[in-house]
Amino acid sequence: MKQICTIVGARPQFIKCAPVSREIRKNFSEILIHTGQHYDKNMSETFFQELSIPEPDYNLGSGSANHGEQTAKMLVAIENILIDLKPDIVLIYGDTNSTIAGALAASKLHIPVAHIEAGLRSYNRNMPEEINRIVSDKLSKYLFVPTQTAVNNLAKEGQTDGVYNVGDVMYDSFLFNLSRIDKDKVLSKFQLKSEEFILATVHRPQNTDDPIILRALISTLENLNELILFPIHPRTRNLMRNFNIAVNSENLRLVEPVSYQEMIVLEKHARVIITDSGGVQKEAYFAGVPCIVLRGETEWVELVENGWAKLIGSDFDKLPGLLFEKQTEIHSDSRIFGGGNASHKITEILKSDLL
Ligand code: UD1
Ligand code: UDP
Repeated sequence: MKQICTIVGARPQFIKCAPVSREIRKNFSEILIHTGQHYDKNMSETFFQELSIPEPDYNLGSGSANHGEQTAKMLVAIENILIDLKPDIVLIYGDTNSTIAGALAASKLHIPVAHIEAGLRSYNRNMPEEINRIVSDKLSKYLFVPTQTAVNNLAKEGQTDGVYNVGDVMYDSFLFNLSRIDKDKVLSKFQLKSEEFILATVHRPQNTDDPIILRALISTLENLNELILFPIHPRTRNLMRNFNIAVNSENLRLVEPVSYQEMIVLEKHARVIITDSGGVQKEAYFAGVPCIVLRGETEWVELVENGWAKLIGSDFDKLPGLLFEKQTEIHSDSRIFGGGNASHKITEILKSDLL
């Protein structure tokens, strides 16, 4: 049986790989490498359990460090495993340091790389993710892109071979899981009523790493006088602690990161979502909930063009005004992200090439 080696390491990659692994294991043997980039139980193990992702064959325990050190640790460990296994394909996801480490290790060993969620660009090279995307795309043989914009981005860079617009695997995950959850259980766990709260997530360095910006953001959220549930990313939690930023309002409820199934229920029942997350922006759209994006630009430009997402960067003063702005009348029709069958399409393409 042909062998696919999948490399994941960060929370969104676990969510993306769940539907793909289910499909590819029907036809291929899959070896799963977890780089260990995310390691807290609620950033890693919870997702494997809840989404029935097979136990990783290898956990590299790379952990947290500066970019060079973190990526280098992964690169060394992945290379050793690939030399040993000689898989037919290496499958990478998204734009994290785990992605670029997988792309570098595999391509130098002449193992074809398949990149899921290829072709996205923010055109902001201050984001580490932008560097990871550009390099990973250049090194990939198969570029499985989620949107037409991603096809266009790659074409602008002269990359048209091996580009397949299959749709978004996160939409596969969203549809698969939403129908399997008891929403009342989740809302009552967090003592929330549908559409009577705001959901917020923040983890981008541009919002977290400068104490003045992070303090201003937290203080703006506190002063909105709205009930806000804020599942806090460990990066943000650690930096708030380092900068001595405390929350003094009962309206702003910081909770530990929640599971994926809990998260999509919270998204579906929030009145508004405030986020700097790539995945959460799209899920707001899948869920039909207005979204305010704490970034100056986004890879998901369709959502801004159709009026669903509002980009405010660090202009937090704009938040109060936007909370009650009437949402553009568009049906949250997710066709721009494909039909929710991206994982199947990816597997079919790999099958037709490899089997
Ligand atoms: C990483 C990705 C980012 C992605 C995000 C998803 C890179 C460069 N960044 O950012 O693209 O959007 O994951 O969540 O790959 N930490 C813990 N426990 C953990 C994991 C992290 O405490 O389980 C803390 C550590 O203090 C660490 C910090 O979070 O230094 C940042 O973690 P890291 O994986 O380097 O980057 P993220 O901000 O999570
Ligand atoms: N998510 C989750 N629990 C949380 C916060 C986010 O399950 O407490 C999910 C969210 O639904 C989405 C993914 O994590 O599917 C997004 O990951 P993240 O925001 O960490 O990274 P990004 O998408 O920005 O790379």
